[in-house]
Amino acid sequence: MRTQVGIIGAGPAGLLLSHLLAGHGIESVVLEARDRDYVEHRVRAGVLEQPTVDLLRASGVGERLDRQGMVHEGIELRFDGAGHRIDFAALTGSTITVYGQQEVVKDLIAARLAAGGTIRFEAKATAVDGIDGTRPTIQFEGGELACDVVAGCDGFWGIARDAVPAGALSVYERQYPFAWLGILAEVPPSSKELIYCSHERGFALHSMRSPQLTRLYLQVDPDDAVDAWPDERIWTELGTRLAVRDGDWTLGDGPIVDKGITPMRSFVVEPMRHGRLFLAGDAAHIVPPTGAKGMNLAVNDVRILAEALAKWFKEGDEGPLDAYTAACLGRVWRAQHFSWWMTSMLHRFPEDDAFQRRLQLAQLAWVTGSRAAATGLAENYPGVVGTRG
Ligand code: APR
Ligand code: PHB
Repeated sequence: MRTQVGIIGAGPAGLLLSHLLAGHGIESVVLEARDRDYVEHRVRAGVLEQPTVDLLRASGVGERLDRQGMVHEGIELRFDGAGHRIDFAALTGSTITVYGQQEVVKDLIAARLAAGGTIRFEAKATAVDGIDGTRPTIQFEGGELACDVVAGCDGFWGIARDAVPAGALSVYERQYPFAWLGILAEVPPSSKELIYCSHERGFALHSMRSPQLTRLYLQVDPDDAVDAWPDERIWTELGTRLAVRDGDWTLGDGPIVDKGITPMRSFVVEPMRHGRLFLAGDAAHIVPPTGAKGMNLAVNDVRILAEALAKWFKEGDEGPLDAYTAACLGRVWRAQHFSWWMTSMLHRFPEDDAFQRRLQLAQLAWVTGSRAAATGLAENYPGVVGTRG
């Protein structure tokens, strides 16, 4: 098999890249290890920044997003048993849209297949060769794909990054001493907006997927297995952490239809290109989910990559491809800092003493009490700063 751009991975990065390239008249083949049903139902993050929504809409995959996405003008930070709203619309004129990552994936798969695009499911890539030359190849279970360029969009656990010779990549990494237990519950959300809650027992997050589906997270021990968290324990813990002092709020519960534990890490490789291999999305960088940046960064990478590839294929101009890493990294590191900052402000770290907790509470009081500080959050969370370059 032969194509212009061989794409490994049918997550948001790989699928959107294939879709954007098609818009430029450039052919691609997407190789995905899992089956279609699996990738369409894998529950992941769900917050889209405005620039992400704009891009999906402009490229023709915004129809269902516009109908079903929930536009939020702010979030709540809850600590010390009281809620404090950060009003994005008032502070920076921006909004976010809550729409599940797997819904974006479904829309992109449908668009690619309707346009006659090729996505090979259950076609796990096993090796990438020849990236230092002009005819790279991807070996996959079921065949070989020859291409002009390889896009490694295969997530953190993929194989594309390993094709880069040892020593050519610098890795920047931080592990966090906790994980997130995430659940999806068949119950209407208990709040109109997301609630980020800092509690002595650990972080909790109230999010949603639809007027009937609530998404909730709890900070847990990184070694915890899902079995350690029967439904009843989850609801009790969520109720305790999210409780408000005046008792004027209750968390609705319902059947839990999905449950999973995700470790938390910050990770970046530089550069994001080696020869004819380009890394995008989680293959190149991971952020802790507290800033809701993961999918938005993946979308930004492939926006830049698709334009650079179009210049190269059409005009032979290699400049934008040479500038790919630099064009992505400014935003990647802005998101890394913001995600680390939100994570540190809201979670309980094992080494934290009473002094540290007082510092956290003082910081939260400042962020929610000062217009200047709140504006910083309202610039970063919806993607007002760092979205270009
Ligand atoms: N061959 C083919 N496909 C592979 C391989 C392989 N060897 N290894 C991994 N994959 C596939 C995975 O099954 C997955 O469908 O690559 C895809 C990678 O998709 P994502 O993990 O969703 O990564 P990305 O597209 O970069 O999107 C980033 O995902 O993890 C979230 O929070 C993160 O929202 C962010 C988004
Ligand atoms: C989600 O809805 O899954 C979600 C929302 C906000 C986050 C992380 C995840 O910061």
